[in-house]
Amino acid sequence: MTAPARTWIVTGSAAGLGRALVTELLARGQTVAATARDPRALADLRPPSAQALWTARLDVTDPEQIRQVVDDAARALGRIDVVISNAGYALVGAAEEAGRDQIDRQIRTNLTGPIHLAQAVLPHLRAQGGGRIVQISSMAGQRGSPGTAVYCATKWGVEGFFESLAAEVKGFGIGVTIVEPGTVSTGFFGRSKEVTIASPAYAGTPAAILRRRAEDGRLSCRGDLAKMAGAIVDVATRPTAPLRLALGSDAYATIRRGLTARLAELEDQKQIAFSTDLTGDDGSTTPSTPHRGPEGSEDAHRRPGARQPR
Ligand SMILES: NC(=O)c1ccc[n+]([C@@H]2O[C@H](COP(=O)([O-])OP(=O)(O)OC[C@H]3O[C@@H](n4cnc5c(N)ncnc54)[C@H](OP(=O)(O)O)[C@@H]3O)[C@@H](O)[C@H]2O)c1
Repeated sequence: MTAPARTWIVTGSAAGLGRALVTELLARGQTVAATARDPRALADLRPPSAQALWTARLDVTDPEQIRQVVDDAARALGRIDVVISNAGYALVGAAEEAGRDQIDRQIRTNLTGPIHLAQAVLPHLRAQGGGRIVQISSMAGQRGSPGTAVYCATKWGVEGFFESLAAEVKGFGIGVTIVEPGTVSTGFFGRSKEVTIASPAYAGTPAAILRRRAEDGRLSCRGDLAKMAGAIVDVATRPTAPLRLALGSDAYATIRRGLTARLAELEDQKQIAFSTDLTGDDGSTTPSTPHRGPEGSEDAHRRPGARQPR
């Protein structure tokens, strides 16, 4: 599919999904600002013309650098249509084993970095009357799992931030899509991963088993990198941005299992939830202000025992 030429920024372009996205975009005749911690890793990209590719050094843990690079890219490309916030990595091991610096670095890269990036691009998108933000999350942003607790915390964090942001900026013509890939073979479980210092207390537990399998390169991946990159570009060029995009049959199955279990647990606890509302002298529950969901819709509900309007 050939999309009309747009300008894109991609973070973490040196390898893996970021690299595949830049390659796909250049093949589709798009103009790309590819950023990487070491831009020399981008030297072998082959744009169809010199104008199609702009590169810059960007470590997403540095908020000043983010703002500078975004402003420079906007000046160099004339406008920014789509930002793909892709840079990230996983800390693997039991939560209790994670060092303070490891936790801090994981959060600054996977969560605080994307927040600062969004803040840096929004003035440009608002000024030009719209645009897209695509945040790479993970199936781990919808379901926690042993051995990746801190990683999951960052991805659940981006899910909450970007879901909220989507509702804030929709009126400016800015669409936000959170992408939730399943496993795909990149440097993710290889050179990029960080591991905790193993504690004997966790030997043989699921967290330790995952770390060992990651260290031994024994994790199998379901996803096709080029197909995932193609699907992300396709969806980012649709007229309307879906809030979420799951990629890979493992992502679909994992997210479905997680959502189903959460819904079942919520329903099981319905009586407890309603039992903690304020009650009036006559035993009726106090009418509450309806919660407005992300789309501004009234998320009002009928309460057991509440008086219904006649
Ligand atoms: N692969 C999977 O199975 C999988 C599944 C779900 C979600 N994801 C997500 O997909 C995204 C891309 O990961 P990947 O699979 O392509 O892994 P990858 O091959 O390891 O690529 C990650 C890229 O992020 C860059 N990066 C890491 N920290 C950075 C920082 N502080 N500033 C700028 N760039 C930084 C790396 O840069 P260097 O080249 O300099 O190291 C690398 O180019 C991540 O957000 C990850 O959480 C991956």
